[in-house]
Amino acid sequence: MLVCIPDVLDAAQLVSVRAHLDGANEAWVDGRVTAGYQGAPVKFNQQIDERSAVARACQRIVVGALETNPLFISAVLPNTIYPPMFNRYGEGMRFGPHVDGSVRIHPHSGAKLRTDVSATLFLTDPADYDGGELEIEDTYGRHRVKLEAGGMVVYPATSLHQVTPVTRGVRTACFFWTQSLVRDAAHRDVLYQMDGAIQRLNQTHADEIARRSLIGCYHNMVRAWSEP
Ligand code: NI
Repeated sequence: MLVCIPDVLDAAQLVSVRAHLDGANEAWVDGRVTAGYQGAPVKFNQQIDERSAVARACQRIVVGALETNPLFISAVLPNTIYPPMFNRYGEGMRFGPHVDGSVRIHPHSGAKLRTDVSATLFLTDPADYDGGELEIEDTYGRHRVKLEAGGMVVYPATSLHQVTPVTRGVRTACFFWTQSLVRDAAHRDVLYQMDGAIQRLNQTHADEIARRSLIGCYHNMVRAWSEP
C-alpha cells in the first residue's frame, strides 16, 4: 500500500526547513556515508550530516508535523520514527534500485529499529526540477511519485525502489523510516481502510450502534496485531 499525504508541512514550515537546508553548506556530505553494501554502489546524492545542528532543527519541525497528522498515523500506526534525514540530488544524481536495510540503530537511543515503512517528504516544487521521480515497485506494478513540496509518500520498506536521475535543477527531500505498531503490511492496509470507513461514517452520522461496534472492532484488531 502506497499512501500520498498532502501538505504534511505548511508553507511556513516548508520555508523554515528549506532555509536551514539551503544555508547548510558544510553539513552536506556524500550520501554514501549511510548506505549499506547494496545501496552504496548505486547511490549518488548528498545528505545532511545526521549529527549536525541543521539536521536537529529540521527534524524537530518534521517530527512535530508528523505527530499531529491523522493520515500519517492512520496509514503507518507509528511506534518509533527514525530521526528524519535530508538529501538532495543535483543534475545527473540518482539512487538506483535498492531495498532499504531492514534494521537501523536509532542514533539517540541506540535501540534497534525495524524499518517497516519508508517515507519521502518532498521539499522542492516539482516545477523546479526534471526527473528525480521516486519509482516504487510493489505487487501491483511500478509507481512513479513526484509530489508538491510539503507532500509525503509512505510505502512498505520491503519495496524495491529508486530515484530516477535529475536532469534539471535540484531535488531536495526528507526521508525516514518508521517501526510500526503493526508489522504486517497487509494488516496495516486493512486497518487503514477500516479507519477511513469509520471516519466517513462519523462524518455522515451513520447508525451510532453500528459505528460503535465497528470502532470496537478496529481497536481490538490493533490490539491483536500490534507488538512493541
Ligand atoms: Ni531507499
